[in-house]
Amino acid sequence: MSFTPSSLLVTGGAGFIGSNFIHSFIANNPECRITNLDCLTYAGNLENLTALEGNAQYSFVKGDIGDAALVARLLAEQRIDAVVHFAAESHVDRSITGPEIFVRTNVLGTQILLEESRKQWQSGSVADFRFLQISTDEVYGSLGDTGYFTEGTPLAANSPYSASKAGADLLVRAYHETFGMPTLNTRCSNNYGPYHFPEKLIPLLIHNIIGKKPLPVYGDGLNVRDWLHVCDHAVAIETVLKKAIPGSVYNIGGNNEWKNIDIVNLVCDLLDGRLGRVAGENRSLITFVKDRPGHDRRYAIDAAKLTSDLGWKPCYTFEQGIAETIDWYLANQKWVSEVTSGAYRDYYQNQYCGGAV
Ligand code: NAD
Ligand code: TYD
Repeated sequence: MSFTPSSLLVTGGAGFIGSNFIHSFIANNPECRITNLDCLTYAGNLENLTALEGNAQYSFVKGDIGDAALVARLLAEQRIDAVVHFAAESHVDRSITGPEIFVRTNVLGTQILLEESRKQWQSGSVADFRFLQISTDEVYGSLGDTGYFTEGTPLAANSPYSASKAGADLLVRAYHETFGMPTLNTRCSNNYGPYHFPEKLIPLLIHNIIGKKPLPVYGDGLNVRDWLHVCDHAVAIETVLKKAIPGSVYNIGGNNEWKNIDIVNLVCDLLDGRLGRVAGENRSLITFVKDRPGHDRRYAIDAAKLTSDLGWKPCYTFEQGIAETIDWYLANQKWVSEVTSGAYRDYYQNQYCGGAV
């Protein structure tokens, strides 16, 4: 099975993973056009894509995935033959303080996108079609000390964010089962890398360490996440889009589990040297705070199906990836101050749901 898209609609391409995917896909596919549909919430930033200004392969449209007429027009005008759907509200803490927008964007928005995509696929105006839903391991819920999520693990979402992603995943499945639409679904573990909004753990640590601000560690700090470099995720998505059989689900992960407190200590130590501080100085910023409600204890992905079926495996070691990521943030302080100030400042400050830090 092989599929060669000629015109991609990427939703949410001004966000963290979407923008990294666009850079990677354009470099690997000089024949394919990309239309990036993004309404630019606090998490969307066109600065992530300035390198593509003037590139004839790429165009940006500011708009909402919930705008059916706009989506229909783009699908028809651009002769879209594949939708890669990143657009979402993506932060668990925000979903606890304000779940409604998560349902509106992640569930209803996905349904509108699916419906317009179904019409495009059924119109026969393109030879073949794919709809790829980008999802998360969080739809599977929480693991104990052992075991892994496989594609067969039942969905058991615990936060409004993951519940809204699980709802969207089930709609994607339903469009395949009910209409025969050629859908695909990937579920990835925690990503890290450039252009990550500094409300998520790793960029928040880097940002706060530079500013000598407290480093909030939720609960006992022993929750476990499986970290994957965003560029490895981008390549995995391209692989699934081109090679997977319609209707399939693929887990994506780095086989790289870390307790939160160990990540915090590592980032502190790597930045001591780079910032000319004495060894251990940054660790003094660590502040244990009240736990996130419903905090999933452990995520761990079994990505064996993706490796055995389609031949994907990650390229980055964590050692290389985390060092490069820290250096990227140090070299891109202008980007960080832009996304955490001005119109973004309120969003940035109002993130933590567990109480004052
Ligand atoms: P992000 O929050 O950085 O970016 C989301 C983007 O979607 C932003 O550019 C935003 O402006 C846009 N957007 C939001 N609502 C929209 C709407 N209604 N219409 C159009 N655009 C809209 O998110 P991210 O971390 O890049 O995650 C992208 C996708 O990957 C999400 O679907 C998320 O669930 C999934 N995912 C993320 C991770 C992770 O570690 N960050 C891991 C696995 C899966
Ligand atoms: P996060 O980056 O929000 O990703 P997710 O909740 O989707 O896994 O958080 C990663 C882990 O780090 C999670 O267990 C919550 C924890 N965390 C903190 O301890 N402190 C923080 O300031 C943040 C943002 C997260």
